[in-house]
Amino acid sequence: MELTIKYTPLEKQRAACIIVGIYESRQLSASAQILNSISEGYLDKILSTGDMDGQKGSTLLLHHVPRITSERVLLVGLGKAESLDGRTWLTAMQSAITALFASAANTAAFYCLDETVAEHSNEWKIEQLALLLRAQAFQPGKLKKKPETPAKIPKKISFVVAENESSTAKATLDLAVAIASGMELAKDLGNLPGNICTPEYLAGQAKKLAKEFQLDCEILERKDMEKLGMNALLAVAQGSSQPPKFILVHYHGGKSAQAPIVLVGKGITFDAGGISLKPAAEMDEMKYDMGGAASVLGALQACATLKLPINLTIAIPSCENLPDGMAVKPGDIVTTMSGQTVEILNTDAEGRLILCDALTYVERFKPAVVIDVATLTGACVIALGHHATGLFSNQEALSIELEQAGLAAHDRAWPLPLWDDYQNQLDSNFADIGNIGGRPAGSITAACFLSRFTKAYTWAHLDIAGTAWKSGKEKGSTGRPVPLLTHFLAKRANKV
Ligand code: BES
Ligand code: MN
Ligand code: ZN
Repeated sequence: MELTIKYTPLEKQRAACIIVGIYESRQLSASAQILNSISEGYLDKILSTGDMDGQKGSTLLLHHVPRITSERVLLVGLGKAESLDGRTWLTAMQSAITALFASAANTAAFYCLDETVAEHSNEWKIEQLALLLRAQAFQPGKLKKKPETPAKIPKKISFVVAENESSTAKATLDLAVAIASGMELAKDLGNLPGNICTPEYLAGQAKKLAKEFQLDCEILERKDMEKLGMNALLAVAQGSSQPPKFILVHYHGGKSAQAPIVLVGKGITFDAGGISLKPAAEMDEMKYDMGGAASVLGALQACATLKLPINLTIAIPSCENLPDGMAVKPGDIVTTMSGQTVEILNTDAEGRLILCDALTYVERFKPAVVIDVATLTGACVIALGHHATGLFSNQEALSIELEQAGLAAHDRAWPLPLWDDYQNQLDSNFADIGNIGGRPAGSITAACFLSRFTKAYTWAHLDIAGTAWKSGKEKGSTGRPVPLLTHFLAKRANKV
């Protein structure tokens, strides 16, 4: 599916399907008016039948509209003109896309990007439309013997904008396409089962990306981690026969003296909980506990595709969290790479254990900023549900920057406090820190744990437990927060 920016006037359009908006009640959008006059009032005639009154998300597919060179015209309801907000617009575009993909049209042109959407720019509309289209066309790699009948995906889709807007529109579309591909990489990795997507497999993916874009890639092995004193990471890995990997990829798009942005992604390829075993129901979903790792790989791919003029390093601590005779036990105490000792009171709070050593390790890069991304706590799902990522930072300005990036990308994050008042929930009688802080404010105490290891730099933590995955009928990886991260990087590169 090829997406392009065009400014073809409607009367010259030859795409197999033209998409135009209709407002409630039976009010023509700007493009619909043009279409109506070319067709000598045909739309008025159709609308007067009452088959379509412009209700948000409604659609009506017309064929052979008089004097229109396109075979099909797809009307899409935009709701009330005075209340066209972002959510309504997205609902309408999703309906139009569903109807378009259900038709046999091989090419299409969207004539609804010129409608004013409250609080959103033209760039936002272009990006969101591109992401919706790519999400619709996305086919999760299924491991089925007989593939299902292939979905009908249009070959060429153009976004029609005013001629004087086409160059910014093209840059926006490039950004959107890079984000879509990054999300697809993250989705594919998140959906792969734990027996295929192992730490070694993730390392292989990093190497593949590095080769494709000529980036530096380093994989630290167990013996390297032993030398570095990454005993918290090693403690999590010791109950599994899959060897742990610590994956690093460096992208150099900026000046060599420019401090890198570091993204750290939690890479637990399966989280059974360890000796603090999880209940059996839905345990399969813990294959996506490497969603943080997948998203930093996706963001790196987008960054390299866009050739952003920044330096970026991604770091992925990766292992499995399983129980066996060698596994770490509740009460065990380990000395982290930072020198602080941790009492592992619950082996299921393993994300913070692998992250703390990664966060200490990345100090050596003298980072401009470090952002870790992790499916860290079930408590975050309770707090924010599946809409917002939990956002924590030791710097207000960075928190605002990430919140804004999430808004611009429509991949939103919401700030939660990191006040010192929560820190003593991590007190231990036997070590410097316990790895759990009790039931109250579970996401915050997890972030507090990480904050003990991030004092050397500006840092933020994104808890994506609720946003990286969908359960139920639509079970699968979402590709979040690749859009947020890519927007953050593009903004740092002055590209958005
Ligand atoms: N990977 C889980 C967090 C998680 C839970 C992500 C549900 C997505 C959906 C994490 O390793 C974990 O098990 N956290 C524990 C922490 C607790 C033991 C303090 C949790 O949230 O229950
Ligand atoms: Mn766990
Ligand atoms: Zn986990």
